[in-house]
Amino acid sequence: MMQGLRLTTHNSRLMTHDLRLTTDNLFYIETYGCQMNANDSEVVAAIMQDAGFTMTDDKQKADVLFINTCSIRDNAEQRVWGRLDVFRLLKQHKPSLIVGVLGCMAERLKEALLENGTVDLVAGPDAYRSLPQLVREAESGQKGINTLLSREETYADISPVRMDKNGVTAFVSIMRGCNNMCAYCVVPYTRGAERSRPAQTIVAEVQELLRNGYREVTLLGQNVNSYAWKNTDDPSKTLDFAKLLELVALIDPALRVRFSTSHPKDMSNAVLYTIAMYPNICNHIHLPVQSGSTRLLQIMNRGYWRESYLERIAKIREIIPECTISTDIIAGFCGETDDDHAQTLSLMREVGYDAAFMFKYSERPNTKAARHFPDDVPDEVKTKRLNEIIALQNRLSLESNRRDTGKTFEVLAEGPSKRSAGALAGRTAHNKVVVFPKAHFKAGDYVTVKITQCSSATLMGEPV
Ligand code: SAH
Ligand code: SF4
Ligand code: F3S
Repeated sequence: MMQGLRLTTHNSRLMTHDLRLTTDNLFYIETYGCQMNANDSEVVAAIMQDAGFTMTDDKQKADVLFINTCSIRDNAEQRVWGRLDVFRLLKQHKPSLIVGVLGCMAERLKEALLENGTVDLVAGPDAYRSLPQLVREAESGQKGINTLLSREETYADISPVRMDKNGVTAFVSIMRGCNNMCAYCVVPYTRGAERSRPAQTIVAEVQELLRNGYREVTLLGQNVNSYAWKNTDDPSKTLDFAKLLELVALIDPALRVRFSTSHPKDMSNAVLYTIAMYPNICNHIHLPVQSGSTRLLQIMNRGYWRESYLERIAKIREIIPECTISTDIIAGFCGETDDDHAQTLSLMREVGYDAAFMFKYSERPNTKAARHFPDDVPDEVKTKRLNEIIALQNRLSLESNRRDTGKTFEVLAEGPSKRSAGALAGRTAHNKVVVFPKAHFKAGDYVTVKITQCSSATLMGEPV
């Protein structure tokens, strides 16, 4: 199962072991990447606490430093290398410190990470149950690695230790991995095959969150629309995502339900009708388009084209007229022409996205694109196109927010506003951030707020 690299002599192993007895077993965890990684860090915290370790938010005090990493773009990996340089300095002051690399970079780079010198252990996303053992081995001087991917692991029985801090909103993973093989994407290699978590463990986790005062859950998966769970006792009772969404919505009308991410090729009408039917399922859909050009979508292996994507948007507007829509866009994918780029801009205008995450294409080693398609759009062209996409989205977001000015929304208060003192921040069901005077309200309250002003990123208002 586990590959161990014995790098020290018997004597020094004994020495480090003795040192270890004087420590408090404190671990610290720093997280990069998507919401699923954030949720995985909470699973890691649960596994470590079960094994007798204690979490700290002070790096200086920690005996074990974990960094949960992302490989989605090269700059995500560069950020992690930068952090490992900082950890190297900490280790110079405290040689017994154990540094563990977790997550997608761990899976992608494996042993190569140990060559860095700072890193003592490497664990991929399906190997977190072995972390306490890997830490103990590292403490005795044996560098350890476990990057086995699993077809079954969903950590279904583990109750994540919530690190979101606001105590109001929580992530709940409903599946892991991805089978889609978009040509540019590293995720199927770092997270393995798609698997769905048993529905009853999802429902039980949400019920527990509700008991603990949480008011909103976001169901997470790389492609939640392909959620499929087979009931082994009664195979006819197989659950799809629409059914799961309904089960979670029925837990309590006061609990808001969100989900992410939806893949356009699998976004069924049944899911849309379920959203329309339950008032506590938020009217917001994140539907990453990546490109407005059918030619590029085909090269990307996305499984839909411009027209079929727009047909899904029309269906959303028909079934859930109030729904906000956000997206992800990649600028400068292999072979992208000025015309392809123009089609992305025109699609953005046609949909009128309320929000978007926008990226320059970053070639990832070993993906289909890296193997077959040259990364041939010059960096300055990628930058220019990305800037045009961002400028357009800023206008669209501002228009969307202006349409909300004067309207009244129910806002779930999440905590103090980061920007204005004495104010609270929360979100509407449409996933827009609203800042409003604190008055007597507190995190977890539903507050009716009338919108008085806006920027492209935020709504501001007064409780009514
Ligand atoms: N599973 C989600 C996406 C997860 S990754 C989905 O399919 O919608 C989040 C976003 O990162 C993607 O939607 C894509 O826009 C972007 N992305 C992924 N790989 C990338 C790459 N190699 N270069 C630039 N952006 C990338
Ligand atoms: Fe990556 Fe595509 Fe899977 Fe999303 S659906 S994680 S973009 S391979
Ligand atoms: Fe990054 Fe892995 Fe998520 S590559 S985006 S942390 S699945």
